[in-house]
Amino acid sequence: MLQKALEFASQNNERFLAELKEVLAIPSISTDPEHKADMQKAAEWMAAQLRTIGMNNVQIMPTGGHPVVYGDWMDAGKSAPTVMIYGHYDVQPADPLELWQTPPFEATVRGENLFARGSADMKGQVIASLKAAESVMYAGDMPVNLKWLIEGEEEIGSEHLDNFIKNHKELLKADFCLNADAGILAPDKPSITTGLRGLAYFELKVYGPKKDLHSGLYGGAVHNPAQALAELIAGMHDKNGKITLPGFYDKVRKLSKKEREDFARLPLPNKLYIEQTGVPALWGEPNFTVPERLGARPTLEVNGLLSGFTGPGSKTVLPAWAMAKISCRLVPDQTPEETIKQMKKYLKENAPKDITWELTYLHGAGAALVGSDNIGIVALSKAMQSVWGRKPYFLREGGSIGVVVQLQKHLGVDSVLSGFGLPDCDAHSPNEKLHLPTWTKGIDAFIHFFYNLK
Ligand code: BES
Ligand code: MN
Repeated sequence: MLQKALEFASQNNERFLAELKEVLAIPSISTDPEHKADMQKAAEWMAAQLRTIGMNNVQIMPTGGHPVVYGDWMDAGKSAPTVMIYGHYDVQPADPLELWQTPPFEATVRGENLFARGSADMKGQVIASLKAAESVMYAGDMPVNLKWLIEGEEEIGSEHLDNFIKNHKELLKADFCLNADAGILAPDKPSITTGLRGLAYFELKVYGPKKDLHSGLYGGAVHNPAQALAELIAGMHDKNGKITLPGFYDKVRKLSKKEREDFARLPLPNKLYIEQTGVPALWGEPNFTVPERLGARPTLEVNGLLSGFTGPGSKTVLPAWAMAKISCRLVPDQTPEETIKQMKKYLKENAPKDITWELTYLHGAGAALVGSDNIGIVALSKAMQSVWGRKPYFLREGGSIGVVVQLQKHLGVDSVLSGFGLPDCDAHSPNEKLHLPTWTKGIDAFIHFFYNLK
């Protein structure tokens, strides 16, 4: 019974929070080999949760990388829908550590927020779906079959999940996937995400002299690799912010009039982004609004730069090499494979002959659009209406989640994208936080969601 489940959730809210704090204490940083044991620990924690809330066949399944946690509950019967629930137990690195007000892996409540790495992205959301399911299981009338897919490599591109899904098609068969790894517009503005951007992530190295040189003895005669790299990077955009990689926009789908109208209706004024980011002015393609630029236009970003002497004081050196981490956010119908070719072509055509370069592709994911009329979206939309008292906004967001395309490709399964992390939750930044009142509403919304599928 709905009421029984909602009451259970409300009475157990403090315990839910305590359990969330427990899993937030595990530094499951997928990109860092030093945290391999923590990855296993986090996977075991998730598996134990699944068992505790009454799931069957709970397994920690190996992949080429970090393991997948699987569990199911198929007792709703053949005529009931099967809902896959996706989550990731990995988090981004916490550095720069000195900017955290309280330690990233000691979850701390301040005001209405819980501060910890992974609180919003996305352990809080995984716990919200687990606790909603626990509440409905307690009520004793779970109306749908459940299959849990909780991976450990989302923050590094879900590389091994692709093969995992391909090799477990039968096990993972479902009507749709609930994915709480996207966000919500505002505490009073529920939203459902209908599109995500893809990604192609590169490391570009430029080599000059065989070793660091005295900049007085050689500066002026040897092309400085830091400068050459900066020149290459600067050339990747034109004056209007358009990306110059050859063919980059060839496959970019044009926005229809209807899509532009949908974007225009979102309550997202420019001043909101200025407030959120603290920049003096916004930047980007002049012919597109900010929500369009973020949701439906591709980008090329420098994620990091490294070269030469960066310690305190001065050193007159002409560095031997320079490195940049560069990633492109992709939109339909661009693909990471084509982006790699375009990047290589740009470098071949533009790199000067006085340096050498090396491009490494690290990982990527395709962009995704999801149908807005499947039973999952209808159920979640109605659930949000019940909890927030208003219909959700539908929007395309700028982040990437590898599994969404992988499920479409291998299983024909669409994702229902939601989440309760606010735009200012500081995911991937210091002092990441989860807004607890929104999180609690999220648990209730997921409880309603299950019953709406009856
Ligand atoms: N949860 C985010 C993605 C997200 C955030 C989607 C907000 C929609 C709204 C996810 O964990 C993430 O950060 N993904 C990475 C993926 C990448 C490493 C392949 C991203 O987008 O940078
Ligand atoms: Mn996430």
